[in-house]
Amino acid sequence: MSEQATGWWRRVLVVACVATMTSAMWQCGGGSGDGSPETGPFPDGFLGLVNVSQNVTQCGECHANEQGRWALTGHAVAFDTLAAIGRESSELSCAPCHNISENGNTLMDPMAGFVGTPVAELHNVQCENCHGPGAMHVADVKDHPDASITVSLNDGCGECHQAAHHPFVEEWMESAHSESHLSGQAFGLNVAGDPACAYCHVTQSFIRFVETDGDEQIITTNPEPINCVACHDPHGNGNEHQVRVVGDEPIVCGQCHNQGPTMIGETPHHPQRDVLLGEAGFEFPGEVFPGASTHGDLTLNPDICVTCHVVTRPFQGGEFPIPAQVGHTFEPIPVIDEATEERDFSNCADCHADTATIFTAFRAEIDPLAAELGTALDAVPEAKRGSEEYQGALFNLETFENDKSHGVHNPSRMRRLLEASLEKLSEL
Ligand code: HEC
Ligand code: HEC
Ligand code: HEC
Ligand code: HEC
Ligand code: HEC
Ligand code: HEC
Ligand code: HEC
Ligand code: HEC
Ligand code: HEC
Repeated sequence: MSEQATGWWRRVLVVACVATMTSAMWQCGGGSGDGSPETGPFPDGFLGLVNVSQNVTQCGECHANEQGRWALTGHAVAFDTLAAIGRESSELSCAPCHNISENGNTLMDPMAGFVGTPVAELHNVQCENCHGPGAMHVADVKDHPDASITVSLNDGCGECHQAAHHPFVEEWMESAHSESHLSGQAFGLNVAGDPACAYCHVTQSFIRFVETDGDEQIITTNPEPINCVACHDPHGNGNEHQVRVVGDEPIVCGQCHNQGPTMIGETPHHPQRDVLLGEAGFEFPGEVFPGASTHGDLTLNPDICVTCHVVTRPFQGGEFPIPAQVGHTFEPIPVIDEATEERDFSNCADCHADTATIFTAFRAEIDPLAAELGTALDAVPEAKRGSEEYQGALFNLETFENDKSHGVHNPSRMRRLLEASLEKLSEL
């Protein structure tokens, strides 16, 4: 835990609390119950809420910063969501994911928490869902209740964010993100062991990178792939859906899917963000190139990557229920029928009427252009390969290939970059 525990709030708040702590540790922050006869610890060692009406957790008495942020998240009202539809009982089918329970931590007792002890103190998804029971910790604060950052069907966020209504963990497991700590292992690379790679490939390293505003690149033991905790701050941070963003970067996915300060002569890796924003590729001097298209315009398409890459569909009940689709495979055009290879263009349909052909028709035009450029580059004699024309054209072809969208991220700019490259090579 200590490897990633560098948040400024942690240093400020825990220290502030310790400074005010008296010999009676429970008085830190000065809370008492709200008149309720129930006070923790409850069975299994859960502490729960110390003030039910104000939704203050026992943990929050000392960890005021996490308490303040958590109180604004969906987790803090998860019980109310059930109560609003008359499902507030401790029934096993709903309660364990919307209240303190064995879910999210290492307990294995289905009767733990609210299910076995249906009191208001154990309402909502609280600190102890993820961190586990806190009684031992308050008896000895050095005994840390660490939350797991591993995510699977039986661990961490995935224990609740699963199944037909919200299959986040199932979809994420299909996405390349779930193996990003092993990228390139087959060619002998070790992304988790190199700080220059780990901050985009490993959750712990990415969290440290975000928390230090991009200053620190670290490696860690037990590296985790890019999972829920990388993209979402478990305690909330004021951003919609608790999404983590580094500094002024407006595009969540662009924190990793960018080429960095790559120059002509180098290889542009994963330049998706820069292609979208109209900043990728080599602009031959004296020529004009289009900038961002509608796809990458922060005003016309404010969600940028999410608009196309997070494809959702609600759960459909009935005799043969269809599971929800929550967009966490991050595929822009998911295949919905393997047999016919029919694809789901619903996210393009907000803007395009001709979704059935728009992708194939454009590919039929731009893929051959790229192939032609590849052939032209191969034909350039060795002696001329140091020229700006050759290097610029090579850079543009690699930008096209490594962007992997077949030009869709920025159709007119990508078309122009390829065409201009061909023109330059023909003059060489
Ligand atoms: C009585 C005050 C108090 C309460 C209540 C309390 N903590 Fe703590 N907690 C501390 C202090 C002080 C530390 C730092 C201990 C140290 O220096 O090792 C700490 C450390 C931690 C850490 C480790 C932080 C790190 O940087 O590694 C976690 C996680 C944590 N607490 C979670 C919780 C949770 C979850 C609860 C509720 C179940 C809780 N705490 C309740 C005082 C408290
Ligand atoms: C004990 C079950 C449980 C665990 C564990 C859990 N969640 Fe949740 N989560 C919920 C429930 C229930 C909701 C819906 C709350 C509501 O709106 O009533 C939710 C909502 C959310 C939301 C939506 C908030 C919004 O504003 O749209 C995000 C994001 C989220 N959880 C992320 C996480 C992450 C990340 C983790 C792991 C670090 C996690 N959750 C662990 C049950 C859980
Ligand atoms: C496996 C854990 C789990 C169980 C069991 C569960 N929920 Fe949830 N529930 C969640 C999560 C996670 C969310 C947040 C989903 C999201 O933000 O997309 C949620 C969200 C909700 C919402 C908010 C609307 C929505 O769909 O996003 C309602 C209402 C709800 N649940 C009702 C129920 C009811 C009623 C039951 C019992 C029949 C139940 N839940 C059982 C995990 C669970
Ligand atoms: C949805 C799951 C979840 C909930 C709810 C949650 N935590 Fe955490 N917490 C985590 C995870 C995962 C980490 C480790 C990753 C990180 O640091 O973001 C963590 C880290 C911490 C740390 C270590 C400091 C740090 O930032 O690394 C403290 C202290 C802490 N949590 C306290 C709390 C308190 C207090 C609450 C309730 C007010 C709470 N947490 C609620 C999942 C959760
Ligand atoms: C700025 C963030 C970032 C850094 C730093 C980074 N990567 Fe990546 N890496 C990515 C992204 C994003 C992808 C997925 C790109 C895609 O598919 O277009 C990726 C994909 C990969 C792949 C899979 C390639 C493929 O096409 O299947 C390998 C291998 C890889 N990276 C190795 C490395 C190595 C080695 C380093 C360190 C020298 C490194 N990466 C540094 C973000 C990064
Ligand atoms: C690569 C980054 C990334 C990863 C990994 C990731 N998410 Fe998300 N998630 C997002 C983004 C971005 C959104 C916002 C989508 C939007 O704005 O509609 C989101 C939205 C959500 C929401 C809110 C959806 C809603 O409308 O209710 C929940 C809940 C959620 N994620 C849970 C999870 C869980 C659980 C995991 C791990 C299994 C996870 N996410 C992994 C990026 C990520
Ligand atoms: C913390 C860094 C990070 C963030 C944030 C991130 N990604 Fe990734 N992404 C990666 C890495 C690393 C890979 C490569 C994994 C591999 O192929 O081994 C990847 C792979 C992918 C792939 C698969 C590419 C392929 O060639 O198969 C897609 C699609 C993708 N990401 C989309 C997104 C979207 C959309 C978002 C925002 C919601 C996002 N990513 C956010 C790091 C990140
Ligand atoms: C206008 C819709 C759109 C937007 C916006 C968009 N993409 Fe894409 N993206 C696509 C399409 C279409 C493909 C090609 C899919 C295919 O070949 O099946 C693609 C491909 C990709 C791939 C390669 C996937 C693979 O499996 O090879 C990655 C990675 C990616 N996009 C990341 C991003 C990121 C990061 C952003 C935001 C900076 C973004 N995209 C914004 C439509 C979009
Ligand atoms: C926010 C609206 C919006 C969304 C969503 C969107 N597009 Fe577009 N797209 C446009 C507009 C507008 C143009 C015309 C060029 C421009 O004005 O930038 C365009 C142009 C294109 C072109 C170039 C056509 C040509 O021949 O020049 C392709 C290909 C394309 N879009 C594919 C897609 C695909 C595939 C998706 C879904 C994955 C998608 N678009 C989603 C608005 C959108």
